[in-house]
Amino acid sequence: MNFSVNDLHVSYGGITALSGVSCEVQEGEVVCLLGANGAGKSTLLKSISGLVKPKSGTITFDNTDITNNPPYKIVSMGITHSPEGRKVFATLSVEENLVMGSYVLKKYDHEQLEFVYNIFPRLKERRGQMAGTLSGGEQQMLAIGRALMSKPKLLLLDEPSLGLSPLVSKELFALIKMLNSEYKLSILIVEQNAGAALKLSHRGYVLDVGKIVMSGSSKELLASPTLKESYLGKAHH
Ligand SMILES: Nc1ncnc2c1ncn2[C@@H]1O[C@H](COP(=O)(O)OP(=O)(O)OP(=O)(O)O)[C@@H](O)[C@H]1O
Ligand SMILES: [Mg+2]
Repeated sequence: MNFSVNDLHVSYGGITALSGVSCEVQEGEVVCLLGANGAGKSTLLKSISGLVKPKSGTITFDNTDITNNPPYKIVSMGITHSPEGRKVFATLSVEENLVMGSYVLKKYDHEQLEFVYNIFPRLKERRGQMAGTLSGGEQQMLAIGRALMSKPKLLLLDEPSLGLSPLVSKELFALIKMLNSEYKLSILIVEQNAGAALKLSHRGYVLDVGKIVMSGSSKELLASPTLKESYLGKAHH
């Protein structure tokens, strides 16, 4: 797996959301993307997964230029996006949601379903329950489980801990870390909870009004006085 974004510019009508963003994720890395509300974090993930069309710049995955490829093509190549706000199909069952996640594989993959149930036994217990009736933490597990159904090499996570209690967030972060260390999944994670995100990441970027203003190893970022002042000192939830 290799992945990089080079000089990406995105605007919505006249509003500029990203102006010249470059970043990369190397094989086996967890990389976090930090930044205040409106900085452009979700826009970057949406551009990568083909949901938003960039004005200029390139996105490269496995030595292929994937800029402007349609979302299904990007998923089938191995990048899956677990969106902000989870977006599970509320009126479908847990299992139906998971099966929807494997649509690009062309055939229903029973082994992958068992793999996901193995990681999230809670989802297996609740396989017949309507997704809209799951707790917030369970819905987040479902969103990640559904993303895993297409067998990604790179997983994009947009604020997985949003709205979850500190305890459930902690469990979720441990699980994300395990997906990386045990299954060698490369991960790009957006988080408002900068401290927790840096603890599970190898490297990080800080986005501010559409530009990367800081980057480095998680250790460096955790020690940075600027970052401490703007992102690490406050509770964001
Ligand atoms: N569909 C859209 N149409 C117009 N403007 C948009 C659209 N989506 C996002 N924006 C604007 O682009 C900027 C970046 O938004 P984005 O959602 O990427 O931020 P974010 O960093 O994910 O913020 P948050 O932490 O609040 O989720 C914001 O100013 C937002 O209002
Ligand atoms: Mg966002």
